Amino acid sequence: MNSTRVPWRFRINKLAVQITLLMLVSIVAFQTIVIGMFHVFGRRHIVDQGDFIASIILALDVAPNAERANIVSELSLAVPYANIEIQETRPAAADASLGSDVAFDNEIRHIDSLLWKGADVFEVASSAPGDYGVLAVELRKGGYATISIAQHQKSPGSIWRWLWQHAEDEPIIVTPGARTALSFIIFTAIFVFWALNAIMAPLQRLAKYAEQIPNDIDTKTPLPERGPHEVRELTRSLNRMQARISKMIAARAHVLAAVSHDLRTIITRLKLKTEFVPDQSLQQRMMRDVDLMDAMLFKNLQYLRAEGDDKSDCSLVDLDSVLQTVADEFCDLGHHVTYHGGGRQMIFGSLPDMQRIFTNLVENATHHAKTVDVLLTDRPEGLIQVDVIDDGPGMSAESKQTAFEPFVRGQPGRTLDQHSGFGLGLSIVRSLVENHGGSVSLLDREPHGLIARVFLPRASEGDERLAPSDSKAAQALH
Ligand SMILES: Nc1ncnc2c1ncn2[C@@H]1O[C@H](COP(=O)(O)OP(=O)(O)OP(=O)(O)O)[C@@H](O)[C@H]1O
Ligand SMILES: [Mg+2]
Repeated sequence: MNSTRVPWRFRINKLAVQITLLMLVSIVAFQTIVIGMFHVFGRRHIVDQGDFIASIILALDVAPNAERANIVSELSLAVPYANIEIQETRPAAADASLGSDVAFDNEIRHIDSLLWKGADVFEVASSAPGDYGVLAVELRKGGYATISIAQHQKSPGSIWRWLWQHAEDEPIIVTPGARTALSFIIFTAIFVFWALNAIMAPLQRLAKYAEQIPNDIDTKTPLPERGPHEVRELTRSLNRMQARISKMIAARAHVLAAVSHDLRTIITRLKLKTEFVPDQSLQQRMMRDVDLMDAMLFKNLQYLRAEGDDKSDCSLVDLDSVLQTVADEFCDLGHHVTYHGGGRQMIFGSLPDMQRIFTNLVENATHHAKTVDVLLTDRPEGLIQVDVIDDGPGMSAESKQTAFEPFVRGQPGRTLDQHSGFGLGLSIVRSLVENHGGSVSLLDREPHGLIARVFLPRASEGDERLAPSDSKAAQALH
């Protein structure tokens, strides 16, 4: 498996990640604005409430002592959030060294300013710190009025102070507000990411599909039109484009094949006519050119056929005997080609295609080297490996990369003659090998030379059933 780690900054380029981050930033910004507004309006609210509390204290101050209890119980019903009590003894004042809320201090000062001159207003040490702010006033007829206000009625002062105070009490992460905000952000992130991935999946499928089009245009079935409206539209256009390209390629191949075929008929006639040219040397030169044209058209037709992926002549083929025959044919022409076989090796495919593949490879090797070895190896993964090894100059890494492209030749500047190729041999080999479910590669041979390595899938039990007539070959599998 080829799993490469993608650096994080590139992963952010993914649309789903970007939109998730954007949404999170918006949520955080929105929450900050809301808290800021709460801060501003919360302060205003407590100032208004201060006037109200001052009125309560004034009422309690002027009321006869016997009426105080009644007034307190009536007010407690009217103002449920403020717990009002009358005490005979002075309540303990809050420890100033512990610090207190700025807004609450302001509040006390504000209430003090509304009361009689010299009124003693102070913050009481609260029994439940953090939940309530309690203020006390000494009444002029004796006794103390205490009013506790729930903490949420108090302004947070500043957001940093609020955070700081909470962080001092307990880690900010465990405060209920922080917990709620954090889980909200996490769940929103997970949900948005999941939803976006679901939306992006059809787009990703489409991108993968579009990437395969140039290699696989003929065999591709149209992509199912799924996903959001825009993606469906895009898929439809892509399917239409693929169908158009397939048709164009088929038409082009058809025209080329027809022209090549007809030209070969004309060439045959030309060959016959050349026989009647009286000048021997001219006749020979003309014959050479005509032969070259014939070879070129033959190779062209081979290439177009290989691209066509015709499976009509497939049967069980013994690769061992194919390789032996190819090696013998080249030996008959005076080349040193040795085949190192490994008994019967069956594949399911086309016999002429197998001959074309290995003839092309051995032909290349004999062009560049003196001795050629063809080696068949049995691979355990259900594959057969064939190496065509030569001791020639080999190929540079750059040439090896482009050699399988059609019309790519080692020396492109050279004019065509009987000894130069057309640059189609390796393209034909690759198309035919891939049509048979195999692969081909070019490797360096030590100390010099080239290894053309072909992998082909071994015939399976299923192939045997497909070709029951070839019982002899089928038996050879066992
Ligand atoms: N065994 C080899 N050693 C060195 N170079 C090679 C070898 N086989 C192929 N090449 C290089 O790769 C190029 C492409 O090979 P390919 O078989 O496709 O075309 P060709 O042999 O030039 O022409 P054609 O096979 O169409 O007659 C060749 O021109 C040659 O330069
Ligand atoms: Mg060749």
